[in-house]
Amino acid sequence: RKAVTVPAMLAMRQAGEKIAMLTCYDASFAALMDRCGVEVLLVGDSLGMVSQGHTSTLPVSITDVAYHTASVVRGNQTAFLIADMPFGSYATPETAFKHAVQLMQAGAQMVKLEGGAWLEETVRFLTERAIPVCAHLGLTPQSVHQFGGYKVQGKTIEAAEQLKRDALMLQAAGASLLVLEAIPSALGKEVTELLAIPTIGIGAGPDCSGQVLVMHDMLGVFPGRKARFVKDFMDGQTSIEAAVRAYVAAVKDKSFPAAEHCF
Ligand code: KIV
Ligand code: NA
Repeated sequence: RKAVTVPAMLAMRQAGEKIAMLTCYDASFAALMDRCGVEVLLVGDSLGMVSQGHTSTLPVSITDVAYHTASVVRGNQTAFLIADMPFGSYATPETAFKHAVQLMQAGAQMVKLEGGAWLEETVRFLTERAIPVCAHLGLTPQSVHQFGGYKVQGKTIEAAEQLKRDALMLQAAGASLLVLEAIPSALGKEVTELLAIPTIGIGAGPDCSGQVLVMHDMLGVFPGRKARFVKDFMDGQTSIEAAVRAYVAAVKDKSFPAAEHCF
């Protein structure tokens, strides 16, 4: 396979070919996911929960994400690599740039930030300085204490309108991808149709340009409560490689997410 790039993902979105993304935190899984056809690997700050055992993503540091990013880089060959900007690392455009540089120098090809309108200047600051940005709207887990728990977002008309305005603004500021987490399927569809850039859903319905899951969730390894949008792809498989291939196939043929995984 040729290396996956930003233009390649845009072409997939335009052709209606779904983008398969998974989180990844180490070299061995990076190699496995890459050879199974996963297009995008995300070094998510979910590593704070699934790897470090914290109850939220808030304790994760930029050093932690850079360490895991460098590990994933060594195992990966052709997948596109995104690294999460952790909690507190992008409060201003300048601090965001400094920390994004750390992740890019560790081998990330894009950084992901959680939030809407307040990030306009930061997204522009980063993208003007050659740092591609993935935005993240809906249930943004770094805001768990403001939300009062991990709750579905964008359910009221006002919240849905705000999310659509935020999505358009982030795209205009230079974002080249948008993760949508835990929102009604109808809103995921609307946002996807509104934007030119690809959307990647996790609990955002079947009409996003692609899907993402936390690898520990899709392998049934995470001991915590299973979110509605999670599917255990190890079920019925006899190897991790077969489970990852089943995930990629289900995203491509649009059998995942099914109605039971959506809001
Ligand atoms: O940290 C993470 O794993 C994420 C994905 C769930 C989108 O941000
Ligand atoms: Na994250």
